[in-house]
Order: sequence, then C-alpha cells, then structure tokens
Amino acid sequence: MEKTLVLVKPDGVKRGLIGEVISRFERKGLKIRALKMIWMTRSQAEEFYSVHRDKPFYNDLVEFITSGPIVAMVLEGDEAISVVRLMIGATDGRKAAPGTIRGDFALSIQNNIVHASDSPESFEREFKVVFSEEEVVPEY
Ligand code: CMP
Repeated sequence: MEKTLVLVKPDGVKRGLIGEVISRFERKGLKIRALKMIWMTRSQAEEFYSVHRDKPFYNDLVEFITSGPIVAMVLEGDEAISVVRLMIGATDGRKAAPGTIRGDFALSIQNNIVHASDSPESFEREFKVVFSEEEVVPEY
C-alpha cells in the first residue's frame, strides 16, 4: 500500500468543493489516514513548494496557497500516487480531461483546486511540512 498527500487548495475550499473532492477519493476506495483544515504559513508554503523555487511562478504560488484555508489529507491505497494523479488530471485546468477533478472544476493553471504528491520522495517531504506522524491514524 502506498500513501499520497492531497491538498484542497484555497480556491477549492472557497468554492465549497471539499466534500466533492473527498467524496471522489472515498468512492474510488482510497483510505483516509489523516485529514485536517489548516492555513499554511509562508515558511510552510516555501518548503512545500521548494522544488519550484527557481520557477517564475514561485512567488505567486506561495501567495496563492497561503491566501486562505486549505484541507490536507493523507490517502492510502494500491499505487495511490499515480491513481490520485490520474484522478486530479493535468496541472492546467483548461487541458485536464473531463471526469478529472481539475477537468471538471478548474479553468486555470494556478487556481487548480487540488495538489497531490507526484512521487514517494515528494510525499515524504510534503508530509513533513503539513503533518506529524501522530496525526496519522493506524491502519484500519
Ligand atoms: P501543484 O500540483 O500544486 O504543483 C505546483 C503548482 O504550481 C501547480 O499545481 C500549479 O498550481 C502551479 N503551476 C504550475 N505551472 C504553473 C505556471 N506555468 N504558472 C502558474 N502556476 C503554475
């Protein structure tokens, strides 16, 4: 079983899509091992998106993710990382396939509703920014 980290970003929270997003993952059969609502600090955001530090959109990205509350969760399942990436769709909501979360709800590359880890290494780093081990419930 593999774990992945998902965020419902500030645009998803403001638009009332928390339930919609969680519901899709639950129906798929992924297990929620941790779940909370937070407002990321600037330093958390800078660490979370550190791989994009040199990109031209880095500052906007940090501003955006700290612009409102987000919902963070750890999902677990067989090949959870690639399964969840398929379910959220391409980064740019305008290009994401219909039926994916971004394809159904986003028209922007920045305001794209959700984030999900793209590799086990990303998961490890992102998890530490948002959660502590005690916040993960035992297998059930
Ligand atoms: P996310 O999956 O959270 O990972 C990095 C984020 O950077 C991505 O979603 C987008 O929200 C954002 N992003 C990626 N490419 C661009 C871009 N060209 N312009 C603005 N934001 C971008």
